[in-house]
Amino acid sequence: MATNVIPKLVSTFVVVFILVQQANAQNLTEGYYKKTCPSLEKIVYDVVYRYVHHVPGFAAALLRMHFHDCFVRGCDASVLIKSTPNNTAERDSIPNASLRGFEVIDAVKAAVEKKCRRTVSCADILALSTRDAVTVIGGPSWPVPLGRKDGRISVALEALLNLPPPFFNATQLIAAFAAKNLTVKDLVVLSGGHTIGISHCSSITTRIYNFTGIGDFDPALDPAYVRTLKRLCPPPKVNNTVEMDPKSSKSFDVNYYNTLVQNKGLFQSDAALLNNSETNAYVRSHVASSSASSFFKDFADSMVKMGKIEVLTGSAGEIRLKCSVINKN
Ligand code: HEM
Repeated sequence: MATNVIPKLVSTFVVVFILVQQANAQNLTEGYYKKTCPSLEKIVYDVVYRYVHHVPGFAAALLRMHFHDCFVRGCDASVLIKSTPNNTAERDSIPNASLRGFEVIDAVKAAVEKKCRRTVSCADILALSTRDAVTVIGGPSWPVPLGRKDGRISVALEALLNLPPPFFNATQLIAAFAAKNLTVKDLVVLSGGHTIGISHCSSITTRIYNFTGIGDFDPALDPAYVRTLKRLCPPPKVNNTVEMDPKSSKSFDVNYYNTLVQNKGLFQSDAALLNNSETNAYVRSHVASSSASSFFKDFADSMVKMGKIEVLTGSAGEIRLKCSVINKN
């Protein structure tokens, strides 16, 4: 009898938890700051435009930052918090070691604070800035419902536990996304974010130099591409960088899926999208596509979903005064 009760209690708890999360996400609205900060979207866009127009790589930086924020304690800007003597924050975890672009968010927050003091959360600023940065480099746009609050907790270990590493296989990736209420389709669509940006060689050295411990490379990689990668990443140079989508890493397009079928997906997690029937079908449907419009629409839809993961709303959380520091109160 007792053995039946426990699984039932657990599943009831899970259902209630999911319902509460969905209810919170429903509280987000596009007009949330309409009265309290009417020029918010313009202030954000202007600052983001200045940075991204000058350095297009900031678009990739912000897109990854938003993803890393949402997958750890939800989209609550916990990724922006700096460590203190008593706490090692997400920002100092291994998966976040190469995050960049914090200065853009700080600049946007400073501009917003000037006009609308203590009104707009850093979580909303990160969500808006990401959308704007992607549009500045010619990517899709999407609506950003607002009203997220900032979290007061940021723990390095949680980043390690929630962010999928580049060596995950399809089953592991699907599970990591399902844990955030994202579907298999969301996984293959959002992985398309790797159409922009760079990776450090450290993220691929095992794959190209010592895949199974005998000085070999991952057979899922095109051998000619391995030679190119080895040239770009000679052994001691783990801090060198390579483009995620070669020759096209600054333009948000559908070319990422072409690289996958050519066995040039940079990470095992990219290549893994060929190993599941649903993700494989999606990849193939975009190969040699002359138009990016269906990918853009899918990407926009999935970004809206990602931006709602486990958000804090209403009286939960706070409006951080400085994005990198939890308020004192
Ligand atoms: C599916 C699981 C994913 C894995 C395993 C993964 C892993 C990685 C890794 C290892 C890097 C390179 C880090 C470095 O060495 O500097 C990277 C970069 C990047 N990722 Fe992902 N990622 C995933 C999903 C996503 C998603 C969902 C997005 C956004 C929607 C995204 C956007 C990016 C971007 C834009 C970059 C380049 C960042 C830059 O240029 O600074 N990734 N990713």
